[in-house]
Amino acid sequence: MSAPFRNEPLLELRRASVRDELRGALAALDARLPLEVPVAIGGERRHAPVLDSVDPGRPERVVARATVATGADVDAAVAIAAQAVGAWRDAPAGERAAVLARAAGELRGRRRELAALCVREVGKPWPEADADVAEAIDFLEFYGRQAVALEARAELEQLPGERNTLRHRGRGVAAVIAPWNFPLAIATGMTAAALAAGNAALLKPAEQSPGCALALAQALERAGLPAGLFALLPGAGEVGAALVRHPGVHTIAFTGSGAVGLEIVERAARVAPGQRHLKRVVAEMGGKNCTLVDRDADLDDAVPALLASAFGYAGQKCSATARALVHERLHAPLLERLRGALDTLSVGPADDFASDLGPLIEADARDRVEGALRDAAAAGARVDRTVGELPDDGWFVAPAVVAGAPADGAVVRAELFGPVLSVEPVRGMEEACDRVDEQSYALTGGLFSRDPRTIELVSRRTPVGNLYVNRGTTGAMVARQPFGGNRLSGTGTKAGGPDYLLQFIEPVVICENT
Ligand code: SER
Repeated sequence: MSAPFRNEPLLELRRASVRDELRGALAALDARLPLEVPVAIGGERRHAPVLDSVDPGRPERVVARATVATGADVDAAVAIAAQAVGAWRDAPAGERAAVLARAAGELRGRRRELAALCVREVGKPWPEADADVAEAIDFLEFYGRQAVALEARAELEQLPGERNTLRHRGRGVAAVIAPWNFPLAIATGMTAAALAAGNAALLKPAEQSPGCALALAQALERAGLPAGLFALLPGAGEVGAALVRHPGVHTIAFTGSGAVGLEIVERAARVAPGQRHLKRVVAEMGGKNCTLVDRDADLDDAVPALLASAFGYAGQKCSATARALVHERLHAPLLERLRGALDTLSVGPADDFASDLGPLIEADARDRVEGALRDAAAAGARVDRTVGELPDDGWFVAPAVVAGAPADGAVVRAELFGPVLSVEPVRGMEEACDRVDEQSYALTGGLFSRDPRTIELVSRRTPVGNLYVNRGTTGAMVARQPFGGNRLSGTGTKAGGPDYLLQFIEPVVICENT
């Protein structure tokens, strides 16, 4: 592992030739749909496909058909992983990193096809689909290097006649429970971290995106990951629950909703009969993220950043901005510009390069967002939407800018995971910080101000895990903006940062009198 880490460059989507390549990749993928996703354990595959993932922009198109893992599959995967993990854990970190680097190469080689798969399976527009694949590659490359660095860390004091050694040993079997909204990147990130640190990783992908998870399974297999160290266990919530309960699981890496995350934390705290360890939970949960706009903000910067943060991937990123807390002097002009900008946004199929927003992931998501907007309007809020026509098919939602939403309603309080931006006046940044501090979520935050005192105030007073100043709140880059929330947004460890692997590690100190 020689070259320093560099983020994988994004494709240049403005080039006609690149667009043609992507269209070609999509056509080739469409000809192969539906993909068949097996349960894969220890080099064996079991095929009995019953669970469909569909294109949220055209739900009659089945993208993948997955076999659902049973309780017996989970038991077998844990048993085989437990057998395989000892040698992997004891291998030099460089060997593990080399496997992960080869897996990154596998994904790199399928870059366009995998972007097309994200477009189809979860309705990601091209720029975000491409970024998803690039981030997955980053995680494989980055965590491999981190494992090597961790192994080389010699931070203990030494005295004459005494040799002290700190070893970072993998904890054992990790269950990875992944979300659909970064179907390749986050599944790969949690899996790569577990493997890099010397664990086995059993992946339960989101039921909406098993096809993307299959690509990760194939990459690890082709990279030569020894059998048993990774298993693909598709299915719904019961599969995740069986993994969480299992006494042979040591670590649970979860990204998803707050409700499920809290259940996992609670369940994992119970020690099952025969279990000789405490489970550790690495959880990345929801957000209700605020961007603060002070009176000295440059609206030419703030408006496009707010649009991208609130409406990128139709608001389905946990990092999305849901509330703009705006100095009262700028509230009216900012609202006017946001309302005007709504009409520049195009809502349409994710595979159309002209679409700014694709569909929401499923009908329930659309209904939740529309219901919250109806309630806000009924309570007297002004709701502005884009006026363009929406496609007839699929779960599309017109983005909304809301003013005057009730303080206790869903638009202000709930994580809607949709393209809704509540714009609220504040008397100043102290009041804005109070509003952020009232929340139990603390994932990302944004601030537009050029005043160093304001920047210092907001950095000190807001509890969020990632604060972005004079830019949008989405798109954290591996190694540059390690990502993770505080309070009920998560356990606070940062994906893509130097501390993340420690969650998958059992430290051992050896003191030897020489
Ligand atoms: N890491 C993503 C972002 O920053 C969210 O999961 O947008």
